[in-house]
Amino acid sequence: MPVSGCTMLAVMLLLPPLLDAMLGLKLCPSHCLCDEPSGLVDCRAVGLVRVPPNVPHGIWLLDLSGNCLTEVHTRSFVGLWSLKILLMSNSSIQTLQPQCLSSLQFLERLDLSFNRLRWLPQDFSQRLSSLQELQLDHNLLQHLDSTSLGDFESLRKLDLSYNRIRAMDVGAFSRLSRLSLLNLTGNGLNVLKDGVLSRQQRLEVLLLGHNNISLIETQALAPLRSLTLFGLKGNQLEHIRFKTFLKLQTTSTHLQMSFNPWTCDCELQRVFSKIRHVRHLHVDDYKDMVCHAPLQQAGSFLASLDSQLCIAETASELVITITVMLAVIGTLIKAEHNRSKNKQTASDTDSERQER
Ligand SMILES: *[C@@H]1O[C@H](CO)[C@@H](O)[C@H](O)[C@H]1NC(C)=O
Ligand SMILES: *[C@@H]1O[C@H](CO)[C@@H](O)[C@H](O)[C@H]1NC(C)=O
Ligand SMILES: *[C@@H]1O[C@H](CO)[C@@H](O)[C@H](O)[C@H]1NC(C)=O
Ligand SMILES: *[C@@H]1O[C@H](CO)[C@@H](O)[C@H](O)[C@H]1NC(C)=O
Repeated sequence: MPVSGCTMLAVMLLLPPLLDAMLGLKLCPSHCLCDEPSGLVDCRAVGLVRVPPNVPHGIWLLDLSGNCLTEVHTRSFVGLWSLKILLMSNSSIQTLQPQCLSSLQFLERLDLSFNRLRWLPQDFSQRLSSLQELQLDHNLLQHLDSTSLGDFESLRKLDLSYNRIRAMDVGAFSRLSRLSLLNLTGNGLNVLKDGVLSRQQRLEVLLLGHNNISLIETQALAPLRSLTLFGLKGNQLEHIRFKTFLKLQTTSTHLQMSFNPWTCDCELQRVFSKIRHVRHLHVDDYKDMVCHAPLQQAGSFLASLDSQLCIAETASELVITITVMLAVIGTLIKAEHNRSKNKQTASDTDSERQER
């Protein structure tokens, strides 16, 4: 939404709160619907330009989606100690000021999706120790450092999809030991680094589709014990190592790996044949995996080439074996031939001697 639109709304909305106060109406932000008995305040798309100050205390759900908030100021939610769900998606938010959420110690769900956040304040997670679900998808975040998600000890679902994250500190998730869903679909990650998931023993769903990942470091998946789904569609993987996936000590993990520029050689074919023989690993979209290289395989399905890829290699191995064998046989024959010739010469000499 354009900024000029936000400014106009600001002027329009200055008067009603004053009127409410003069008329002695119950505490409720203007244009919002307050259902105090059930503890809900609905301020969806009513053109708010800031978090209203007169929200009744004691509510558990506040919906501020579809407004024009731009900035969430320090102490915006003071007094809303019982709030459990705060929805602020699609509200043109660019900045979260320090301590803007710090009074919400019982908050369980926070939706900040579809905003314009480029970074998170250092103290973003401070005092939000009850938060279980955080939606930050469709923002402009570029980097995840090791502090801003630090105190989300209860967090189970974290949606960071469709941001611009290209790098994450190794400690970015280091205190999120309860995390069960991590959605990083649609970012710009290049590598999945060793250690970045070191505390995620409870992680069940890891979505890394539509990034730019060309490398999964050997130990990166080793800490995961509960993973059931690992999405890697639409990345830049040409090769993977069997060792990396063998480290997944789970009961059953589904892998999604199509739409990567696979180099279909014998090595890749062997890796996948091994992965598919590991009982707890399932490549869901193996039939959709298309080769990108080498040239003669480009566009073919890996599954359709399957055993062929190693034929050339097996054939050349065979040629080498046969050549070596022929050389050995040749030598043996020659030696035998030489021996009998020598014998022949020897007996010739004998008979010559006898003739004398
Ligand atoms: C975002 O909010 C505007 C109103 O401010 C609404 O018209 C639009 O449909 C909303 N978009 C989404 C994706 O919710
Ligand atoms: C992950 O994010 C994508 C893109 O925003 C979304 O379509 C998908 O539903 C999300 N998956 C889960 C399990 O939340
Ligand atoms: C994507 O990864 C490749 C290496 O595989 C790198 O050369 C390229 O710069 C990356 N692109 C972006 C947008 O990060
Ligand atoms: C053939 O025998 C001669 C001696 O008669 C020996 O010098 C030569 O090394 C032998 N060659 C082979 C291939 O065994």
